[in-house]
Amino acid sequence: MEVLKNDRLLRAAKGLEVDQVPVWVMRQAGRILPEYREVRAKAGSFIGLATNPELAAEVTLQPVDRFGVDAAIIFSDILVVPEAMGLPYLMEEQKGPVFPNVIRSLKDLDTLKDANPEEDLKYVLDAIKIVKKELSGRIPLIGFAGAPFTIYCYMVEGKGSKTFSQAKKMLYADPQLAHQLLQKITDSTISYLKAQIAAGANLVQIFDSWAGILSPQQYSEFSTPYLKQICDAILDVPVTLFAKGAFFARAEMAQLNCSAIGLDWNMDIRESRNLVGPNKTLQGNLDPCTLYGDFATVKRETIKMLEQFGKQRYIANLGHGVYPDIDPDKVQCFVDTVKAF
Ligand code: CP3
Repeated sequence: MEVLKNDRLLRAAKGLEVDQVPVWVMRQAGRILPEYREVRAKAGSFIGLATNPELAAEVTLQPVDRFGVDAAIIFSDILVVPEAMGLPYLMEEQKGPVFPNVIRSLKDLDTLKDANPEEDLKYVLDAIKIVKKELSGRIPLIGFAGAPFTIYCYMVEGKGSKTFSQAKKMLYADPQLAHQLLQKITDSTISYLKAQIAAGANLVQIFDSWAGILSPQQYSEFSTPYLKQICDAILDVPVTLFAKGAFFARAEMAQLNCSAIGLDWNMDIRESRNLVGPNKTLQGNLDPCTLYGDFATVKRETIKMLEQFGKQRYIANLGHGVYPDIDPDKVQCFVDTVKAF
């Protein structure tokens, strides 16, 4: 059994008592850091960086050394799963991800395979192993995957979108095909998460970034059942569910076999605790834009947030990923304010 020197984040996720509130920052490894931009330039592209285990490990550790956060998160992307299923993506500068092929019919669906993580995602598993070695037990490592519904959105739409209307169209026009695709994604996601855990991930987070485009009824039909399968399959480590915009699904998510639930900044903290009950850890939820404010503002808003969440069953974080043009010193101020609380 691995012994961690600082295990407060893992303890909080499991509902054990902590000495202080643990903190990490979504998108902590990335463009806010000049040292990241340097390594990324050396790699030539985002995908070049993400598929190079040594460099991916290096940028994973950068925010750990710089900010003193209580967890590392492996540097990768949620879109590696569709790629491993046979649907490759490109990352276009300034524009984001693009899939040259999309899934719109049964014929398209039949071209997909089940991901074999040990082969198709070996570069992520190798990066995890390097990070674990370099951390030598300092703090836990978070593994992650996209929620099946969010991955479905990209595989059907083929790119980012404000509405994901093509992806939503299938929910109405051919719900059976949507379910078949969601099930395929779920199967690959479960084997990928298990492989990350076997490689050394100490907990995992599921990002349902586009949850907020669904109605409550659609969320119950097209997202929750697949999240449930994941939660029921991953029993060795804590699972955090982060469904951005799904304020309407908080009580439903609380019924799943997860350890923690991530909140975005639209979700009222006390209302969330009431809906979720006492038996799940909450994570979040400072508006990332708060970090555009001056240091006094960052400090004041962070303390306000901490007072509402309380010290136990809580992991401090932002309500979504940090934006690329935010000053890293403001992120440091956020982290330091949590640690001093
Ligand atoms: O530090 C960390 O949080 C780990 C790294 C991480 C990345 N992507 C790296 C990345 C994580 C956890 C993700 C998850 C991810 N990727 C999500 C879910 C989280 C969320 O933000 O809701 C989503 C929806 C994606 C898909 C994705 N990847 C988009 C839409 C984009 C383009 C927009 C953007 O943020 O640039 C990416 C690219 C991406 N993923 C970058 C990074 C650092 C930027 C690429 C670059 O460096 O040029």
